[in-house]
Amino acid sequence: MPYGVIYFAAMPTTDVGLDKTLAALGVTKPDEVESRFAKVRVHFQAHFQTVQSESEWKLFRDSWLGRKSGVLTQITDNWLKPATPELKRAVGACLNELRAHVESQIDARRASIESSAEEAALARERVDLSLPGVIHPIGSHHLIRQVLQEVEDIFFSIGFSIVEGPEIETPYYNFEALNIPEFHPVRDDMDTFYIDLPKGAATPLLLRTHTSPMQIRTMEKRKPPVRVIVPGKVYRRDNPDATHSFMFHQVEGLAVDTDITFCDFTGTIEYFVKQFFGAGVKTRFRPSYFPFTEPSVEFDVSCIFCGGSGTAAGGGVCSKCKGAGWIELFGAGMVDPAVYGFVNYDAKKVSGFAFGMGIDRLAILKYGIDDIQAFFQNDMRFLRQFP
Ligand code: FA5
Repeated sequence: MPYGVIYFAAMPTTDVGLDKTLAALGVTKPDEVESRFAKVRVHFQAHFQTVQSESEWKLFRDSWLGRKSGVLTQITDNWLKPATPELKRAVGACLNELRAHVESQIDARRASIESSAEEAALARERVDLSLPGVIHPIGSHHLIRQVLQEVEDIFFSIGFSIVEGPEIETPYYNFEALNIPEFHPVRDDMDTFYIDLPKGAATPLLLRTHTSPMQIRTMEKRKPPVRVIVPGKVYRRDNPDATHSFMFHQVEGLAVDTDITFCDFTGTIEYFVKQFFGAGVKTRFRPSYFPFTEPSVEFDVSCIFCGGSGTAAGGGVCSKCKGAGWIELFGAGMVDPAVYGFVNYDAKKVSGFAFGMGIDRLAILKYGIDDIQAFFQNDMRFLRQFP
């Protein structure tokens, strides 16, 4: 039990005679009343000095101002109420004076205890600004993400919107609806990873080999005009080398409307390439073949490593373009009318173009990276070069 409890509770009553009436104490004159009150005040001051903490302050307040048995209540009950008419006025005046003094002192002490508690808390919680801070390293986007963002911004600016689709696909969307029936030789070029499903599963599932399945999924959902790009990861069973990875990124593009021509197609592609690489880059279309475009093309840009000469700086064949002077960037073409049959578009009324570009190859060319594998090795020394 704290020291203050015993002390405050026992003190005033017996010492000053609060438990007796004035008559029993032999007080008969007003000046004797005053000296009794002076004694009470001396006690008050003596005990008041010892009040330091908030808990002591509460006990002290209750022992003096408590309604039932506080000192002032005892004075009222034992001294004031039974006082003779000659003394009543003096007792009343002294009691009022004492009450005002006690209340103001107790209030003032409370304020000072609170402010010193606050000061102590402030001192305890003070922040030392000279301490070293906590370092939160700020990350940055991977170069592939940055390039995807650049590509998206360019196509946004000419009215394309973005759609995304599943990386696990059915053979129907990845092949058949793109006019690549089973046993079509082109499937060999896109050999992929099949998901190991429980025996008897309704449909085989595979990791998509290109973003083209989203052409079908988009046209199934929307009526022309359609103008979308589809960024995403794709997978192939390709052997890794400086320009091939088994997982890489593509951005598919699809524009279908009632009056889209081959000129719209080449104009859009040229615009994109000039925006992305700058006006100086040389480009070319080569005839190619995709079952879902007719005519089909491959789009190449001049090799940035050998300046398009096909010869490496130190002599010999440029290893990046293998001496061709060109690097293949993407496949494209006008949407084959057969594809419209799979999505219930009227092939006689609509026309359009599609393309699928390798984002990793775009990044390699734009930033002069000599090995696609660097993107996926998570070497911080490589990644930090592209903040
Ligand atoms: C396709 O994937 C077609 N879907 C593109 C297309 C879309 C044609 C729409 C017509 C209409 P291709 O297999 O050529 O096409 O791949 C497209 C691009 O992906 C390539 O030009 C190349 O930049 C990139 N690419 C292909 N294989 C790899 C690989 N293993 N690693 C990194 N990039 C690759």
